[in-house]
Amino acid sequence: MDVIEIIQTKRDGGALTGEQIEWFIKNFSEGGYIPDEQAAALAMSIFFNGMEPEELTNWTKAMVDSGVTLDLSDVGKKTVDKHSTGGVGDKVSLVLVPLIASCGLAVPQLSGRGLGHGGGTLDKMEAISGWTASLSEEKMLTQLREIGGIIAAANENINPADRRLYALRDVTHTVDSIPLIASSIMSKKIAEGTEALVLDVKTGSGAFMVSFEQARLLAETMVELGENSGMRTVALITSMETVLGNSAGNALEVSESIEVLEGGGPEDLIEVTLALAQEMLELCEVDLDPREMLASGKPREVFERMVSAQGGDLSKGLPVAKYKKTVDALDTGYLSKLDCRSVGFAAWRLGAGRAKKEDSVSPTAGVVCMYKPGDYVNKGEPILELHGDEEDCFDSAIEALEGAIEISGSAPDVLPLLIDKISI
Ligand code: URA
Repeated sequence: MDVIEIIQTKRDGGALTGEQIEWFIKNFSEGGYIPDEQAAALAMSIFFNGMEPEELTNWTKAMVDSGVTLDLSDVGKKTVDKHSTGGVGDKVSLVLVPLIASCGLAVPQLSGRGLGHGGGTLDKMEAISGWTASLSEEKMLTQLREIGGIIAAANENINPADRRLYALRDVTHTVDSIPLIASSIMSKKIAEGTEALVLDVKTGSGAFMVSFEQARLLAETMVELGENSGMRTVALITSMETVLGNSAGNALEVSESIEVLEGGGPEDLIEVTLALAQEMLELCEVDLDPREMLASGKPREVFERMVSAQGGDLSKGLPVAKYKKTVDALDTGYLSKLDCRSVGFAAWRLGAGRAKKEDSVSPTAGVVCMYKPGDYVNKGEPILELHGDEEDCFDSAIEALEGAIEISGSAPDVLPLLIDKISI
């Protein structure tokens, strides 16, 4: 095999063979033989020229095969997971995993930490005193068997090719490529060993894929990759035009998730969670009503068990920020815009997110939305409450919110949350 020929084929718009892909991914992920500059040239060629469906299936399979695949056959329950492409205030997993576990299924959710304006599920869970994201494979299997749900970090042996390639894409500005994103996400989910997967592909100002067309293309590509690998896969496309629920920030989002598990919480968060739950149950042919299950209180107990099994102690309470400041309405009228991405950046600047993989995050920092688009507000009332531990972060958070809030005399059209469903 010749790496130059592989790069040239993609650079000139051709398709790679299965053998070329297998050889490239194996040698790149093992390190040493293929230097970063050659892998970067290939990533850039893929960025510009895309991949044929068969090529992408082979690429994804080679990434899965670069590491281990979890064997969940001993869990004794059907397995199903959810993956979200991420957004601001997206705390759905914290409610959904115990909800689906309560229905008798096992949810092996291997999750990531946040980068940029969106928060990561592990960062949120780490706001709980004592909770650890790292579980041995044996502990994962035991917890899935006994409790039915895990939220944990993927171990180093899963998909090393993605870890190396993602780091390279990050510094060569080749992240935003649908084949590279789809193969990166799906290879991790396939390696997790789940039998079925529901994707929540976000679109709108706070999403990775801002335009609906791009979100739909990503969803279609991922559903096809999942089905080609033998994993039943469907995708919902949901709106990230404004914050999901009322808060963005680690401890704040845990607290809001517990509210939902206890029968309260914001309606938009409940709507998205129940829609995803319904799809997961249907994929596993379980005839239960997720709304009734949520109201039964069982998912709250399962959440407590999941947290304790991973060392967490909810009785210690959640940490709270040292400082709070409000952003107040400048007019009376309907809140016609509360820009999602800007709120995410404000939370990030307060300390809730990280700029680089190595950065630490604040468990307490974040933003609480006191109103949502469509609500009527009076001049001077707080619209946002900013939380942070460092007093000098507030000015730059407020700067991030410039132009993010609009108030008008007439009620705005509030777009639906559930936009589309993709299945084969
Ligand atoms: N998330 C991933 O896991 N991979 C990507 O390429 C982009 C987002």
